[in-house]
Amino acid sequence: MHISENIRAPLTARTVADTLRAAGCVFAEDEARLLMSAAPTPAALSDLLRRRTAGMPIEHVLGWAEFCGKRIDVEPGVFVPRRRTELLVQEAVAMTRPGDIVVDLCCGSGAIGTVVSSARPGIELHAADVDPVAVRCARRNVEPVGGHVHEGDLFDALPDELRGCVDVLVANVPYVPSHAIALMPPEARDHEPRAALDGGPDGLDFHRAVAAHAHRWLSPGGHLLIEAGAHQASTTVDIFTRAGLLARVIRSDELDATAVVGALPGVY
Ligand SMILES: C[S@@+](CC[C@H](N)C(=O)[O-])C[C@H]1O[C@@H](n2cnc3c(N)ncnc32)[C@H](O)[C@@H]1O
Repeated sequence: MHISENIRAPLTARTVADTLRAAGCVFAEDEARLLMSAAPTPAALSDLLRRRTAGMPIEHVLGWAEFCGKRIDVEPGVFVPRRRTELLVQEAVAMTRPGDIVVDLCCGSGAIGTVVSSARPGIELHAADVDPVAVRCARRNVEPVGGHVHEGDLFDALPDELRGCVDVLVANVPYVPSHAIALMPPEARDHEPRAALDGGPDGLDFHRAVAAHAHRWLSPGGHLLIEAGAHQASTTVDIFTRAGLLARVIRSDELDATAVVGALPGVY
């Protein structure tokens, strides 16, 4: 079908949903409702619909993503927070106490830190990313909950005063093996930056880099939480162990999510 012809028809809930369905959107009715409530005018709706049917992720079209029941600002060029990452949030919230220092490393939109901070008021939150577009977006989410956002390569972005003081270091880093990026859905492959996805030949380059430096930043009772693919987790445990951390795997079948939790020996 020719999407552009369909868009010229009067835009009712039915025609919007039909257009979305024809373009391959699985949740056409839900998306139609979201687009219609986001568009102040018929022209704006037509524009949103055109972007969505061209393949842009619905979150980028709307400018927000739902994550842990909250609206998180996102924008084109910024990684869309995934439902599976709620496992990292649940674990981080469970281990965070008032007054703790929490770092959201490779923060993207800052979704993880923002939700942890909302659930645990009274923490000191720092979020960091190397990508200026992600940093700009993270500022819109993180600063309203009282957090600080830094720009730079991994730990280089963080203020030196945080060394040895981080109670919860949560990191959803890029972990897709380079060769698997071509197999990802087009919404990710074509609309999210490769640097947000590519974890190197086995996907674990960032797990190695974060684990290697974590001991300099964690407080004596602090924890490192990192998301992994189910098939990667045992290698990540080895990486943590070789870096001098105790490690365990956590898993949620409901979220289809896997993560590895590390801590300095003697405090686990
Ligand atoms: C998989 S995305 C996760 C974003 C966010 N944590 C989330 O779960 O929505 C990985 C993020 O790592 C960032 N990143 C990639 N290389 C980095 C580096 N060397 N230092 C800091 N951040 C980096 C990317 O810009 C991207 O925002």
